[in-house]
Amino acid sequence: MLNPRKVAIVGCGFVGSSIAFSLMQKGIYSELVLIDANAEKAEGEALDLSHGLPYTAAMDIYAGDYKDAADASLIIITAGANQKPGETRLDLIGKNVAILKSIIPQITATDFEGILMIVSNPVDVLTYAAWRISGYPAQRVIGSGTVLDTARLKYHLGRHLDVDSRSVHAVIIGEHGDSELAVWSGANVSGIELNHFCEIRGHFQHEESMRRIYESVRDSAYEIIRRKGATYYGIAMAVARIAECIVKDEHAVLPVSVILDGEYGLSGLALSIPSVVGKNGVETVLEIPLSEKEDQELHSSAEQLKNVIQQVEF
Ligand code: NAI
Ligand code: 2OP
Repeated sequence: MLNPRKVAIVGCGFVGSSIAFSLMQKGIYSELVLIDANAEKAEGEALDLSHGLPYTAAMDIYAGDYKDAADASLIIITAGANQKPGETRLDLIGKNVAILKSIIPQITATDFEGILMIVSNPVDVLTYAAWRISGYPAQRVIGSGTVLDTARLKYHLGRHLDVDSRSVHAVIIGEHGDSELAVWSGANVSGIELNHFCEIRGHFQHEESMRRIYESVRDSAYEIIRRKGATYYGIAMAVARIAECIVKDEHAVLPVSVILDGEYGLSGLALSIPSVVGKNGVETVLEIPLSEKEDQELHSSAEQLKNVIQQVEF
């Protein structure tokens, strides 16, 4: 029987432990299982996190194995290598597909009926691989996708316009990586078309500002990794937000990585596209309006990912 208030995290490194910390503070789960190839690491994280419980909502946090995760409503996979300075996400493919291939059969060997969320990179390729390896319905396999990149875009636009980033409506789609794109054609601030809002706030160099902001978003991970070796707080907040949509059956629209089945004329890959997310995972993949240039960029991003997927043996 699926327990809607139970979550498991596989991989308790920088990303997994930060996700655990943000989930714990959201108070949306009553049980959190931590799994890692290094069992002591998982045990240490569980102890450390548990000592914060008197100051947040009651829950049970413990290190466990795949049997303990069988009745979870969500398993989040963050296991795997992260980028070293100079590496791209796609450079991680060999190592991380092998790790995924060792993890997924241990999950499918249980009666797990919940949602599988992939965070390890390259997240779109691994989401597609997880779907293929698990045999689960597509709606139950999602990647954190460009939920993080979209937050980065909203943050930079908010700073540029000196406005609360939560009032900014703009999205990054495509690969969570170097070929991602910003959907500028639909961007707005509380319903006011973006360029008009920029002018209200005294900015008139639209092309130059959009290029600079897009590049800051696309290159964020490189900048952070160069300075501190890894990224983890931003992704932790993004994953906690997706988890919240699932637990609360919010039907919120988020640019998660989804298995495409003909949307935008694309199939045979996973890509980040705004989708309605609820307790059953992905309910609807939305075909949002795109300019001709954005449509071309989305197809080019998909092409690059398909080339990588072709090299993967499932
Ligand atoms: P890390 O090296 O700190 O942690 C990885 C953990 O995975 C380690 O604790 C390791 O023992 C564990 N692990 C390795 N093989 C395993 C297996 N077979 N079963 C269970 N556990 C296993 O790495 P970090 O920084 O936490 O990054 C993890 C992944 O998340 C990387 O692939 C990174 O690129 C990705 N990432 C993805 C983001 C996104 O937006 N999708 C954002 C940030 C990182
Ligand atoms: C990030 O964008 C490295 O994918 C990771 O922070």
